[in-house]
Amino acid sequence: MTSVLATFTSVLTISTVSAWNNAHPYPHLHFGAALVAITSTILSFVGYCHLQSSSKHTTLLFSRGMPTWSHLGLFTLFLTWFILTWSTSTEVSYHPIDMLIYQASARHETFLAQASASKSLTGAVQAYKHRYNRHPPPGFDRWHEYATARDSLIIDDFDSIYADLIPFYALEPSVIRERTWELISNPWNDAAGLSIRDGKVSVMENGIPGTHGWMIDGLVEMIGKFSEHLPDMDLAFNINDESRVVVPYESMKPMKHAVSQQMMNAASKVPLDTPPNQTTFSNTASSWKPLPQERNEQTPLHEKSWQRTFESHGAIGCPPSSPARQHRTWDVSTLCTTCAAPHSLGMFLSNWTLAADVCHQPDLADLHGMYLSPAAFKATHELYPFFSQSKVGGFNDILYPSAWNYLEKAHYNPTEERPDLPWEEKQNVLFWRGATSEGLSQGWGQWKGMVRQRFVNLFSANNTKMSLALLPVGPIIPPNTTDFEGRVLHNRLSYQFVSAANTTNMGDVNIVDGIVRCFGRDCVDQGAMLEPMVPPIEFQEHWGYKYLLDLDGAGFSGRFIPFLRSGCLPVKAGLFREWWDGRVEAWKHFVPVDVRGHGAKGTMQYFLDGGHGKEGRRIAEEGKEWAEKVLRKEDMEIYMFRLLLEWGRVVDEGREGMGFDGG
Ligand SMILES: *[C@@H]1O[C@H](CO)[C@@H](O)[C@H](O)[C@H]1NC(C)=O
Ligand SMILES: *[C@@H]1O[C@H](CO)[C@@H](O)[C@H](O)[C@H]1NC(C)=O
Ligand SMILES: *[C@@H]1O[C@H](CO)[C@@H](O)[C@H](O)[C@H]1NC(C)=O
Repeated sequence: MTSVLATFTSVLTISTVSAWNNAHPYPHLHFGAALVAITSTILSFVGYCHLQSSSKHTTLLFSRGMPTWSHLGLFTLFLTWFILTWSTSTEVSYHPIDMLIYQASARHETFLAQASASKSLTGAVQAYKHRYNRHPPPGFDRWHEYATARDSLIIDDFDSIYADLIPFYALEPSVIRERTWELISNPWNDAAGLSIRDGKVSVMENGIPGTHGWMIDGLVEMIGKFSEHLPDMDLAFNINDESRVVVPYESMKPMKHAVSQQMMNAASKVPLDTPPNQTTFSNTASSWKPLPQERNEQTPLHEKSWQRTFESHGAIGCPPSSPARQHRTWDVSTLCTTCAAPHSLGMFLSNWTLAADVCHQPDLADLHGMYLSPAAFKATHELYPFFSQSKVGGFNDILYPSAWNYLEKAHYNPTEERPDLPWEEKQNVLFWRGATSEGLSQGWGQWKGMVRQRFVNLFSANNTKMSLALLPVGPIIPPNTTDFEGRVLHNRLSYQFVSAANTTNMGDVNIVDGIVRCFGRDCVDQGAMLEPMVPPIEFQEHWGYKYLLDLDGAGFSGRFIPFLRSGCLPVKAGLFREWWDGRVEAWKHFVPVDVRGHGAKGTMQYFLDGGHGKEGRRIAEEGKEWAEKVLRKEDMEIYMFRLLLEWGRVVDEGREGMGFDGG
């Protein structure tokens, strides 16, 4: 009888413990285990009573007859546990962010394996041909030597350079050189000219004002490190923050088609394992037209500052069937769920790359300064060779590492008074300081749509005043989204994460000093709405906070790289993308947030209130470690070196069949 009681008690205990073990990460299993507990308890109890009444000579576990009720109870317990643990149940309740973090880790491993696969120059040449279907450019051995001597982790994956340059193969080299001249010969274009002659880089005296001195100085310093290996050429650098070049979809499509035809023809005529027919650059100083004596008054650019630009310089790069081209207005007082869904998992941003593609996001027309009213925007619809520090989706500027970062204008440099505190000692809030510089608000309220203003409002204690819908919204998981074990995620999943959101005191997100880039009542209104204005801080003060918000302004982020290098966790919302985008993984190295802001509080709730501080800390650490490996000044040089070798070929008459021979 004692054994019967003991078994009964142990079944009860095991079941209860497994049912309410809070350490168990999967809530649905709690429910399942509770069911098991109750079922087994009842069965055991019935078995106990059965034994009491039917036989005085059997013990619970070793009865002589057929299986007893208690056997059945134990068996049910085991079976249900087995089913719950191992079956492919169709419902799961991970926090979606757990899954995003898990997937990001896997993607990063995949990236790393292919980005640094080659172990020698020969290997790198092979990898290059395999990836890009051409010979590497002349000078590739010098580049390889430069990169390996500086321990570049990334040798093979420069897909962003490839993507930026490929359309230029649709233009004759002479046309590209002429277009470069058109840009730098008229100071109105805001294009700084650099020229490389006999392996030396110098600034062209083309009348660009000195306010951008740091940019030119940084470029000269960076390029000077390897200019001896570059051919003679002139380069046009965009001195504005805003990107410049959008080729309409209808023109770009045939260009891309022509380029792929070219490549196929070339490959069928001359296989890649035959040596290139030209192994050195042929351009010399005489290939480049000198600057005019008189200032050139012609310009290919159009003045588009202070205007709505989404239609003309966003959607225009998209296929005619895309939502951006179909529905040009969206009532932004409600969330456009179909705009966010393709790059989201519930309210959380799941695909950072896709989030920069404007084609499925017509509502962005009213949700970003770049589209509402850029402060300085001189743009073209033709493929002009503009080197820019950042661009939004659809633009055809050529990205390069910003001299701002290269010169460490905003530097991660904790001091004794402003140390990078250990994680536990940092303040547990989302922190941001900045200016209303994303675009210019002329007096009819464009500022209400701008990312910075919306986020300041979102995280202010008093965010009921703005008309835009900014609160967390319902779940928008696309159909048939599965988790990493192939199980279907249901929309109802994210409700609990929304409803529980504790939205007070999550952030210290404030405008510094006063309202800028505004006219008329927009200055007054913003002042009232976005108060309090706070005094500026020293950059090194950032390291006292766990979560550092990085919001789009008018262009590239001057602070993201130092944020990443710190022990803090960058939380980034923006459309502008930079040269490093292919190597830094969202959810692995930083936390991405949709520019709409609807998931921002839900995301912060996960880290702040949800007991996931340790995940935050881990991402912060991994981001820091990764930045120290692939976002060093050396990595910027290596990127720029490779970019300019490739560019040297694109603008060279002999570019077809040209390449590095050997390896
Ligand atoms: C993001 O979207 C792009 C474009 O649709 C796709 O190629 C890529 O695989 C997606 N990445 C992730 C992480 O889902
Ligand atoms: C919130 O806004 C209202 C209306 O403008 C104002 O009266 C109130 O003082 C504000 N509260 C805080 C905490 O700023
Ligand atoms: C919400 O957060 C604040 C500050 O972190 C905290 O004081 C408060 O207890 C939280 N409320 C709930 C309901 O969790």
